[in-house]
Amino acid sequence: MNNQWIDSQSPEDKQLQASLLEAGTLPRHIAIIMDGNGRWAMDRNLPRAAGHQQGIESVRDIVKACSQLNIGFLTVYAFSMENWKRPRMEVQILMSLLKTYLLQEIDELDANNVRLHAIGKLNALPKNVQNILNEAIERTSKNTGLTLTLALSYSGRWDIVRAVQMIALDIRRGTLSPEDITDEQFSKYLLTESMPDPDLMIRTSGEMRLSNFLLWESAYSEMYITKQLWPDFRREDLYCALKDFLNRERRFGKTGQQLRESDEKENQQGSLRRIISSFSSR
Ligand code: FPP
Repeated sequence: MNNQWIDSQSPEDKQLQASLLEAGTLPRHIAIIMDGNGRWAMDRNLPRAAGHQQGIESVRDIVKACSQLNIGFLTVYAFSMENWKRPRMEVQILMSLLKTYLLQEIDELDANNVRLHAIGKLNALPKNVQNILNEAIERTSKNTGLTLTLALSYSGRWDIVRAVQMIALDIRRGTLSPEDITDEQFSKYLLTESMPDPDLMIRTSGEMRLSNFLLWESAYSEMYITKQLWPDFRREDLYCALKDFLNRERRFGKTGQQLRESDEKENQQGSLRRIISSFSSR
């Protein structure tokens, strides 16, 4: 699987990816706030739609690169619930670009083992977009490579409120008791329930905001903010973000010393396990 995209890679790119893979553990889940399409277009005296169109080229390249790097999950913020407030024409253009993207890309995504997924208030999307999206999701549902999630008509607060409503219903039905609500239990009620929390959250265009994206899930995500506008963001920029990620110390509330001690302990236990298994296989 994944042959097409791997076969089409240049030797230099393969080398760059190999060095990243050797350097450490890459994120299992990358989430991206793709921002700056409008500014990219304005800088060139082009209509905003041209920025979105060019933004799709970035989506294509980043999806390919993540798949080649064996990243498990990529979630992109393609349309927020607040984006419905944009001028009607821009919303129509975005919906039509989304439709075109799905129709044009689905064969290639499927051939490269990508599983398509979507989160958000999907029934707010135009019916024809919903149909194409559902078909694409269904068609790729058995794939085992990269899970590409499109956040569409998505709002982190909306998803949290929806989860709370479902929890309240389960309590009323008697299938859940309040004492059983833990972080883990709560996560199961969110639309992101089937994926790990993002390890790395990238935002383009320099804005320092989460903009209502994966609010619960990003509690311990490493943030990477670049001034680059989304239509200019390509795989080389992703590699910079990954290099930066590999240099971060993810402490999850612990001290650096505690982390080093637990790494040491794990290494010792690993060596012990290897010694024991080498004896038992003799
Ligand atoms: C933010 O830029 C971007 C969006 C609201 C839409 C993102 C959509 C795409 C990249 C294309 C469609 C995506 C897929 C997956 C097919 P902005 O318009 O807010 O830029 P600005 O802040 O410079 O105005």
